Amino acid sequence: MKIIRTKDYGEMSRKAAGIISAQVIMKPDCVLGLATGSSPEGTYEKLVEWYNQGDLDFGDVTTVNLDEYRGLPKENDQSYYCFMHRHLFDYVNINPDRTFLPDGMNEDPDAECARYEEVIRATGGVDLQLLGLGRNGHIGFNEPGEFFEKGTHCVDLHPSTIEANKRFFASADDVPKQAYSMGIQTIMNAKKILVVVSGEDKAEAVKNCFFGPVTPKVPGSILQMHPDVTVVADEAALSLCSLPE
Ligand code: GLP
Repeated sequence: MKIIRTKDYGEMSRKAAGIISAQVIMKPDCVLGLATGSSPEGTYEKLVEWYNQGDLDFGDVTTVNLDEYRGLPKENDQSYYCFMHRHLFDYVNINPDRTFLPDGMNEDPDAECARYEEVIRATGGVDLQLLGLGRNGHIGFNEPGEFFEKGTHCVDLHPSTIEANKRFFASADDVPKQAYSMGIQTIMNAKKILVVVSGEDKAEAVKNCFFGPVTPKVPGSILQMHPDVTVVADEAALSLCSLPE
């Protein structure tokens, strides 16, 4: 695992966008696994900026997103579908037919999870998966539990996740209680993984995920087992870890 320490969120975003750009330049028809949340917003902003400068071409790129709330229509501005359009898809030359997310409105969880696994399989596999970290160490919406969930599954969101995400909704009651999420195995199948993490409120999660035991109680700790993970973290997020300067 490679850890890149940055001064702040801005530098984290530029470094992460640089790594994604390198992937797109080296393999223009690559498959990017994408994430939502405040952590990757700055990264997407940089990608859009570099696209506008003519330095990036998304014309042959395919994307698969990690997760989507269950029961939120696409049109809801808090859906991850809307998030991706608002932060990236609407501003670059990506083919909308090659951007995939779980369908939060499919009421049949088994059918939706099987469909989404097949979507990912049919892309040929994820070249680079971007991840944020939940405060409790979750990745995608793989919440702390007794075992690692393998494939795409329907998740009951942890009360602390509902609490953390209520800032985007009118109240905690409006936060969906479930989501469809890629599983740990789905995520681990990516050839490369890029984690972006910023801020003191993530310091505990960083310490537990990357310097603690590998356990389903800290879902992100599984990343220690992946052969090609890069973590781009700012000083505040690394404040509980002793790294060489
Ligand atoms: C949500 C998403 C995760 C994300 C996490 C952290 O729960 N499902 O993919 O990593 O939030 O979000 P943020 O980056 O806003 O702290």
